[in-house]
Amino acid sequence: MAHPMIVGLLMLGLSAAPALAAEKTDPQSGFIIAPGWETARNNCIACHSAKLVTQNSGTREHWLSLIRWMQDTQGLWEFDDKTEDTILSYLSSNYGPKQESRRPPLKAEQLPENPYRPSKT
Ligand code: HEC
Repeated sequence: MAHPMIVGLLMLGLSAAPALAAEKTDPQSGFIIAPGWETARNNCIACHSAKLVTQNSGTREHWLSLIRWMQDTQGLWEFDDKTEDTILSYLSSNYGPKQESRRPPLKAEQLPENPYRPSKT
């Protein structure tokens, strides 16, 4: 028989799965399909794998500083304001700062009985 806490953790894991599966990605580049993704694809995979982009994450400022770095040192072309804004919005909303990916801790009443806890009497 599986330990009840393990069963509980498995159920928590399963209930989170559909939300992840709903995210569509472009099979070729692996980019998340969301507003602006084609602009990002058109400008961000000429020199390196799309994976380099999709494995990175951060705030809008983080992405902007990466773009400036590539423009200053790696030969990345300049974007017009609208294109840059589209790319930055796409990246920061789909590859934004990493969220806490672990589930929140169980509440006290959800925890199994702790046999080592001193009795309340
Ligand atoms: C003109 C070529 C070029 C283009 C176009 C380009 N990059 Fe880069 N990028 C580079 C080079 C060169 C590196 C360093 C590659 C390496 O370390 O292997 C790099 C590295 C990166 C990295 C990894 C940075 C790190 O900290 O390791 C990310 C993320 C990235 N690029 C994102 C982008 C995004 C987003 C775009 C589109 C806006 C883009 N790149 C377009 C040349 C380019």
